[in-house]
Amino acid sequence: MKYLIKDLNLYKEGERKVLWAFEHMPVIKYLRQIYKKNQIFKGYKIGACLHITSETANLIINFSQAGADIFLCPSNPLSTQDEVAAYLVKNGIPVFGKRGESGKEYYKNIENVAKILPHFIIDDGGELITFVHQNKKYMKNIIGATEETTTGVIRLKNLNKQKLLKFPVIAVNNAKTKYLFDNRYGTGQSTVDGFLRATNILIAGKIIVVCGYGWCGKGIAQRFRGMGGKVIVVEVDPIKALEATMDGFSVMQIKEASKIGDIFITATGNTSIITMKEIEKMKDGVILGNSGHFNVEIKMDEIEKNTLKKKKIRDELTEYTLKNGKKIFILGEGRLLNLACAEGHPPDVMDMSFANQFLSIKYLKENPDLKIDVYDVPGEIDKKVAEYKLKTLGIKIDSLTKIQKKYLSSWELGT
Ligand code: NAD
Ligand code: ADE
Repeated sequence: MKYLIKDLNLYKEGERKVLWAFEHMPVIKYLRQIYKKNQIFKGYKIGACLHITSETANLIINFSQAGADIFLCPSNPLSTQDEVAAYLVKNGIPVFGKRGESGKEYYKNIENVAKILPHFIIDDGGELITFVHQNKKYMKNIIGATEETTTGVIRLKNLNKQKLLKFPVIAVNNAKTKYLFDNRYGTGQSTVDGFLRATNILIAGKIIVVCGYGWCGKGIAQRFRGMGGKVIVVEVDPIKALEATMDGFSVMQIKEASKIGDIFITATGNTSIITMKEIEKMKDGVILGNSGHFNVEIKMDEIEKNTLKKKKIRDELTEYTLKNGKKIFILGEGRLLNLACAEGHPPDVMDMSFANQFLSIKYLKENPDLKIDVYDVPGEIDKKVAEYKLKTLGIKIDSLTKIQKKYLSSWELGT
């Protein structure tokens, strides 16, 4: 088989990073110990399309050590950590993908994974699931799939609404132990991390415009404020806009925010948030970045068309001199900057996201007759992940007394 990773010498560096992350993923560690013993996935093939990071490597190793044949490709052309891919390949896990691969290579790598005829798919963004729906010859063994992110869940729900979905999918994103931590604190911290690695400039005193105040946007706004930024939120949902206002942020329309922002970060899961129309209003020298899943939030094609000259300033920071004479700076080609300019979420939060992935695939295996639909992660799994995590953090909580349970399940008593 042809793997795109050529430099396997990188694997030592990958090994150090993966083991460091593992020490910060206690739930994944706990699951590895249990399921290594009983080989629950023996005889099953899993195709995974995920950002190839140290945290992903630990999930993949869990499946492999629990008996699965697992094959991996990237869910974004710019998020692969080559040293991690090399480490996995060195340990016998096929990885199709390398950092900075072309669009053609990216889809070829998805096909390489589809070709194994997986029993299960683990997806991040819906690309592998969509691919097998468009190429049904790769679908014949599939029992079910899981989806990691908000954008993927939206796409798959749309597919299901049109009655085109062909197997059950569990929306891992929708577990509370996923989005409340990964989307909020993970994206919050890693977006600031990516911004700083790419620019190395001061945040304090700058005006940061955060587009979207969903789970990711909340984390980003909170963390940029924590570094002394003056944060403006742009929203289309009146409830989220109100929430941002009462959380203490300025809220305004993009046309107004465009005139005053120094730094713009999108996290909407939507398209065309920053187009040339907004850029025309912006100050000279603004920095634009995206942390939403796809590179459609900042209209890079429009920017390219309106550009006279492009210059690489630092890794993942490009200066665009526009035809109107203004300069703008783009982080990570407009791709999700926390993974393109940094290493994605810290292991401590991916621990919970990936524990949900592991237990959801186990659930699909144990329930092969689920009817076709997009399901939330079963509540028992979500709760179990929270309980494991608390236990590994050494935190004990109280439980309801008999009297309290009775009180909460009654309607007669008012006092
Ligand atoms: P969410 O649904 O919680 O929030 C999205 C918000 O964007 C909503 O409040 C919505 O009203 C708002 N929005 C939509 N269109 C808008 C517009 N035109 N202008 C302003 N606001 C608009 O979703 P989320 O969980 O926060 O995810 C957001 C994106 O980030 C998705 O693409 C998701 O897949 C991605 N994501 C990225 C990472 C990462 O590592 N970078 C991690 C998790 C999720
Ligand atoms: N998505 C966001 N951060 C990630 C990480 N560290 N690993 C895999 N997927 C991610």
